[in-house]
Amino acid sequence: MRVSALSPSNSAGGLTVLLLLLDFITPAATVKHENFKTCSQSGFCRRNRAFADHALTPESNWVSPYEVKENTVLLQNGILTAEILKTVPGQAEKVVLPLNINFQKNGAVRVTIDELKRTKGDIVLRGESKARKERYNEAERWALIPDWDVRDDKVVYDNQKGQITLAFGPDLKYKAVVTVYPFNIKFERDGETHVVLNDRGLMNVEHWRAQPPEPEEGKEKSPEDLDGGWDETFGGNTDTKPRGPEAVGMDISFPGYDHVFGIPSHATSLSLKTTRGGEGAYEEPYRLYNADVFEYIVDSPMTLYGSIPFMQAHRKGSSVGVLWLNAAETWVDVVKEKKTKTDTKTHWVSESGQLDVWVFLGPTPQTIYKAYGELTGFTKMPPSFAIAYHQCRWNYVSEEDVKDVDKKFDKHDIPYDVIWLDIEYTDGKRYFTFDPLTFKNPEKMMKNIDQTERKVVLIIDPHIKNTENYPVVDELKSKELAVKDKAGDIYEGWCWPGSSHWVDAFNPAAIEWWKSLFKFDRFKGTAKNTYIWNDMNEPSVFNGPETTMPKDNLHFGNWEHRDLHNLNGMTFMNATHQALEARDVGKGKTQRSFVLTRAFFAGAQRLGAMWTGDNEAKWEHLQAALPMLLSQGIAGFPFSGADVGGFFGNPSKELLTRWYQSGIWYPFFRAHAHIDAKRREPYLAGEPYTSIIRDAIRLRYALLPAWYTAFHRASKDGMPIIRPNFVVHPDDEEGFGIDDQAYIGDTGLLVKPVVGEGVDKVDIHLADDEIYYDYWNHKIYQGKGKKEYSAPLEKIPLLMRGGHIIPRRDRPRRSSGLMKHDPFTLVLVLSQKGHAMGFLYHDDGESFDYKQGAFIHRQFMYNGNLKALTSRDLHKDRAAAAAYRKVAGALQIEKIVIVGASNSLDTSALANGKSKAKAILVEDDNGKVKEWHASLAYTAAVDKDHADVLVIKNTKLRIAHDWTVYLEQVGAEDKPKDEL
Ligand code: GLC
Repeated sequence: MRVSALSPSNSAGGLTVLLLLLDFITPAATVKHENFKTCSQSGFCRRNRAFADHALTPESNWVSPYEVKENTVLLQNGILTAEILKTVPGQAEKVVLPLNINFQKNGAVRVTIDELKRTKGDIVLRGESKARKERYNEAERWALIPDWDVRDDKVVYDNQKGQITLAFGPDLKYKAVVTVYPFNIKFERDGETHVVLNDRGLMNVEHWRAQPPEPEEGKEKSPEDLDGGWDETFGGNTDTKPRGPEAVGMDISFPGYDHVFGIPSHATSLSLKTTRGGEGAYEEPYRLYNADVFEYIVDSPMTLYGSIPFMQAHRKGSSVGVLWLNAAETWVDVVKEKKTKTDTKTHWVSESGQLDVWVFLGPTPQTIYKAYGELTGFTKMPPSFAIAYHQCRWNYVSEEDVKDVDKKFDKHDIPYDVIWLDIEYTDGKRYFTFDPLTFKNPEKMMKNIDQTERKVVLIIDPHIKNTENYPVVDELKSKELAVKDKAGDIYEGWCWPGSSHWVDAFNPAAIEWWKSLFKFDRFKGTAKNTYIWNDMNEPSVFNGPETTMPKDNLHFGNWEHRDLHNLNGMTFMNATHQALEARDVGKGKTQRSFVLTRAFFAGAQRLGAMWTGDNEAKWEHLQAALPMLLSQGIAGFPFSGADVGGFFGNPSKELLTRWYQSGIWYPFFRAHAHIDAKRREPYLAGEPYTSIIRDAIRLRYALLPAWYTAFHRASKDGMPIIRPNFVVHPDDEEGFGIDDQAYIGDTGLLVKPVVGEGVDKVDIHLADDEIYYDYWNHKIYQGKGKKEYSAPLEKIPLLMRGGHIIPRRDRPRRSSGLMKHDPFTLVLVLSQKGHAMGFLYHDDGESFDYKQGAFIHRQFMYNGNLKALTSRDLHKDRAAAAAYRKVAGALQIEKIVIVGASNSLDTSALANGKSKAKAILVEDDNGKVKEWHASLAYTAAVDKDHADVLVIKNTKLRIAHDWTVYLEQVGAEDKPKDEL
């Protein structure tokens, strides 16, 4: 049950307010489906599905009514422009739709289709609306990076018999073939077609028309009188649609592709199911309309809190992608057609805005993620604490409570980095205040927490309490920075504080004002270690249609809410992110922000982290989380997590434990609980649970260097942080649908969390014939296919793929901040042939100095034939690398662990105890060679199914320096000293 935190004592209107609110508090155990539209309840979705049904019926002999007017075609500076003409039955005049195809140097292509009449504002609005008349064309301002437009000016043009062929991209390896009539575009690579726009003729740009008068009795409705195109009522709210029907639709086919991924967020499988009914299929399209769908059900195409309209199609040997750049409510149908091969055919429809489609032609997952990131930006490099463990609940109720939790973590030796304060910390839900009774001295609290380098995250939502004596709301009103209703008056709705107004973060002046609110001298009680959580930013409006804002509300520039709804949350997050980065943390310096958001759109990865919203303490929700997070990674926003433990309800101890064992693999790792849920901090679980959870959290901490390195890679080339099988093994057809196991960055760590009650073994899919070793006991798993892995409660199913080097920090500490001077361990996991490779990225974890080159970036290579481990500098700026060596030069490697040592070394002498300590040659970056008498610990394999392990201790190797370690002598029999 959702509970309003509003009580008569702290509300503006007292008891009346509470009673009013009770009206829309939902007592149901799961999501109220009837609060959210199905396709048939949404006019434009219904229309476009019916349109598709008609077009796809053979008897209709459907021909798409769109045609490129050939004499308008012009190619200039990498942009092809033309007019598309739409034929409207019964009308002589054709509708003119400007077409724009933009070719980018990296091979990405953008196809934009607008409507001439609307671009000129040559339409009449219905009613009294003050809305803009154009189709929304500002999604790119938020979703794309400012300098995205890197044009390919070498496009080669050819026009023959109604087919315009454009060769483009690196080495002209891609082609776009535009068929003039009926209009469609085929995208080719390597002589094959990979993506087709308007393949099935489902393109539909609903042109502007005046609302036809009601037909006289007995007469038929005008065909221009579109069903649901005018005022539409749902759940007691009427949408006035001042511009009438204006949907845009297009079908996109992926010939030869059996799997499509992406378009998060949905609680569904990673490989998207089909949506037109039948066995194992959904009946409804995937919906993208950011909404507060608390207690959502799993295995559903229903919309959730955030939307990224990016889809990837994958088959053996090829990956391609599309971005449907439209921030209005959107639905996507998916069908698959099996002939000799399978074709996946999709149908996209948005309520308003331009038709704006980006195509990425691959050929690999990496090339697509990179091209997508070059457009929408890469994951922001977070402050290092943000990837450690976060402890949250609704609510830690007072400073004493915070202190107590903090102390108990230490008492039980469980590391954590961040404690979170939910809405109850405020003075009556007035953001930017602290409750004076329970948080009397927040500054002191921040300081206490800082002693162990820990942080505090405060929630700040976009609804601003409409009340007296609250300067924040006074300023919001007087500066006119709030969202307006359709009449242009300040919009008022209901959320946690009761009556509220909403910051319009589309307005640059609102962003500036928002920034001013976070200054330390303004937001009293906050400090350098205070960070922010933005919730309810879909936006959630308790009394609004589908728990959000009316679509005819107005934002900055008089754009209707309808046009930009899915961007709303991200613009708010952007304002907060900017505010945190603008705080002067001393000596004019600033620090990296950390913002958690619930709502998001393409591009939000540049600003912080997301989580999957209000899940439940149920096994099926634990199971649903990993596929959802893998999907986030595909769609370029990998800094993602799900509430560990489940938000609603009380998990059993087994579920809680398994959730931690799973949660340590979420890029964003936070436990959270509803206000009604029992306390469940890990130390409360009791034995053996507390110890098992402690071990799991410590494993996360030990692997933080590997996680940080994976974040760094995501920030550079968009590779997901946790990766599904198909990304790591793009040719392993059996593994394309696998979404219950994941690889961590480039480490070769393969985890398959237990997500079922009473389950004590799992099947792990191996994609190749390489050796995989059990992380815990080095048991060998080898051979492509499923392998049974025993997983009693205390064991996380975790394998290490041969051929990788994993960086770790093995000393348990209270927080990640306290580990910053700790030495590293390198785990060499030798391949069958005796080789291994890995990476480490390291910087100060808080400032922006890394942008000036203050970081360490190493590649470690172990050559099994030469028996040599080399650390190579990947830093491109030698001077900056040398300067940072002065800062971080003392960081060392204390241990090298070699798993499967005998794959490279002759370990027989070690095994029979004839070799104890051996001289190892080290060559450092000055070319100096020195001998070093290492201390070794060797554990022989217990049997042929297990690997041997050699540990080289106290290496004193410096992490920031070049060196090579020669292990040739290791394992040789000890000889008398003078022979050495
Ligand atoms: C929403 C959030 C949840 C939070 C609650 C109170 O339900 O999703 O995480 O605890 O609001 O702020």
